[in-house]
Amino acid sequence: MRRTEFRYREVEQHIMALVDGQAIKPGDKLPSLRALSRQLQVSISTVSQAYLELEKKQLIQSRERSGFYLSVGSQRLPSPASRPRPALVPTVSKRSDLIQTVLEALGNRDLLPFGVVCPAEELLPAGTLARISASILRTNPAQVLDYAPVNGHLELRRQIALRSLEAGIRVSPDEILITAGAMEGLSIALRALTRPGDNVLIQSPSYFCFLQLLENCGLRAIEIPSSTSGLDPQDVKKALEQFAIRAAILVPNFNNPDGSLTGDETKKEIVSLLSERKIPLVEDDVYGDLFFAEHRPATCKTYDKQGDVIFCSSFSKTIAPGYRVGWMIPGRYYGRALNIKTTTNICTATPNQLIIADFLRDGYYERHLRRLRSAVRNQMETLLLSLQRNFPDGTRAGFPKGGASIWVELPPRIDAVDYFFRAREMGIGLAPGPIFSTQDKYNNFIRLSCNGVWNDRMEKGMQTLGELAKHMLKQP
Ligand SMILES: Cc1ncc(COP(=O)(O)O)c(C=O)c1O
Repeated sequence: MRRTEFRYREVEQHIMALVDGQAIKPGDKLPSLRALSRQLQVSISTVSQAYLELEKKQLIQSRERSGFYLSVGSQRLPSPASRPRPALVPTVSKRSDLIQTVLEALGNRDLLPFGVVCPAEELLPAGTLARISASILRTNPAQVLDYAPVNGHLELRRQIALRSLEAGIRVSPDEILITAGAMEGLSIALRALTRPGDNVLIQSPSYFCFLQLLENCGLRAIEIPSSTSGLDPQDVKKALEQFAIRAAILVPNFNNPDGSLTGDETKKEIVSLLSERKIPLVEDDVYGDLFFAEHRPATCKTYDKQGDVIFCSSFSKTIAPGYRVGWMIPGRYYGRALNIKTTTNICTATPNQLIIADFLRDGYYERHLRRLRSAVRNQMETLLLSLQRNFPDGTRAGFPKGGASIWVELPPRIDAVDYFFRAREMGIGLAPGPIFSTQDKYNNFIRLSCNGVWNDRMEKGMQTLGELAKHMLKQP
């Protein structure tokens, strides 16, 4: 087993893998604490802690003087299967009103946070950031008040260049442009690459802000399906053969909302298909660091030989969404991107750049990420088990390999927008499927976000959502 600071989580994952592989079935007895401790070479107390956690998730039950048993109803839900394929036609997004309503609800912190993709407050490194901030203010108060360079604070760009190696990107600090979150980078990229009326390739389902962005820029979306295994190069090829496509905007690593991961070889193929035709690719990697496997997935930028990929990311999903610190690697579009950045906001806010730079330089990020990933993965497991227990037959949901959201297919008769409004009335936030496509798709899908904590309120919320779904199914 791999050594981590959360050994009991590894024992948990070992058991989950046995459940997934059906090596143990509902009602079966689990190995004794002693046997598993010997087999995995961990202490008995580690195994005991893991069993306690699994019991909390209601995956296993202890029976007095007999040991632990796999609960009945503990098998995984099937992955969404009847995923509707989008029609291969250029479509103008008209989702802004619905998206705006959903965004207002997402911003409401009184709602149970299954609607917002953002780590829970207790998982954000507030204390460390406050200490760094105080130290910067003490040692160099004037620098904080000044403009930063348009392309961003040098130490931050250096740290990002260093971290990029893990994502398979070799880049010098001079090729990086600091932005106000990933969204600014994405917006700059589309403004640099397109003119109103152009076709842009996106995956389906896609992050709803992409749809708004296309709508605001007067662009038409060509949607290709995203599945559990990510994008299929054949779909990309077909779209490229049929339409004049100006640019693509994709999330190959843990797409929002379906969490799909496009394999590294496929990324390479897609980059080459687009590059051959000189079509730029805007790659959004905001979830790339939230992987659950041992290694980070590569990026499309990894395989970019000619600077055709504009890479965008941020620290919003990992360190502090409110700081609005992101970056882009615009490749051969650097000059145009810098120009647009200058006339948008001159530079990204100075104090936030300085603080994040020190956070990275002082080695806090890696440790923080390990804790965050483990918490998000753990909550995802609990949430999926809760879905399984509480939702009506016909509900489907896969277990993504990273990211922070679960894409749930409800039985077809449930209208997700109606479901969203009713859930909101009950104090529960979620995102309805139709906001993730320009076409009339995903009417019975919802996205549930994982912020990395699980509590009784959430368990009750899931029960309420399950009852609501069952109630809606009974309605004529
Ligand atoms: C795929 C994707 N890209 C971009 C963003 C926005 O990132 P930022 O807050 O850094 O602008 C989000 C936020 O939910 C997202 O899911």
